[in-house]
Amino acid sequence: MKKKLIGGNWKLMCDKETLNMTKRLNNNDFTNVDAFIAVPALYLPIAQNMFPSDIALAAQDLSEYKSGPYTGEISARMLKDMGVVYVLVGHSERRINFGESCEKVAKKLQRCLENGLKPVLCIGESEKCRNRGEYLEFLKSQLKESLGSVRDSNIDIAYEPVWAIGKNEMASEIKIKEVAENIQKWMEELRLRGRIIYGGAVNKDNVGKIAKIELIDGVLVGGASLTEEFSEISKTLGDSANR
Ligand code: PGA
Repeated sequence: MKKKLIGGNWKLMCDKETLNMTKRLNNNDFTNVDAFIAVPALYLPIAQNMFPSDIALAAQDLSEYKSGPYTGEISARMLKDMGVVYVLVGHSERRINFGESCEKVAKKLQRCLENGLKPVLCIGESEKCRNRGEYLEFLKSQLKESLGSVRDSNIDIAYEPVWAIGKNEMASEIKIKEVAENIQKWMEELRLRGRIIYGGAVNKDNVGKIAKIELIDGVLVGGASLTEEFSEISKTLGDSANR
């Protein structure tokens, strides 16, 4: 059985207080899982010193370039130098708000692998796409195009339906299961190893349900990772793995 993965994503929603909050997270809640929190790049060095020892440092994004005259960019190498372990790649908020194409995402993925960073590749369909019934075709091509030429690699995939992110309700178990089954099939075709995790309105009350879904090996948590609720979510996820 794969070890469960829990990721936090603080987005642009955190401040110094959120960093202080991590002192109150209970390290024991994270020992049975692989855990990370993706913080804004500016906070990486300080987060490194403050996080409980079982929470790995993660970045929310990285440059598609290795180095060069690209003002404002942060390279994979720099992240590695600062102790970053995981990197979110292709989050829908970057794809939608910053015009990040699958081609760009593929380059970022490549930079992660070259530098020994663990990418968490995010994919997810919009509400329109879901309602049109075209989501499986869309997700398959988004996954394929976001990988570029990457094959035979260990990449965790986060399925995050855009219509569930930041909302009160997660996607239903049936919907998550259907997509997870397909992602697993595509991963085999693309010779990828790695976990499939779910993100979108995950909280302490629904994580138990998510943990029971076959093929789902973890969660990516946005809003609920900004508070001590993150500990509770992790504990439930970790306990589910022991059953
Ligand atoms: P949410 O965000 O948990 O606030 O829905 C998830 C994400 O965007 O990763």
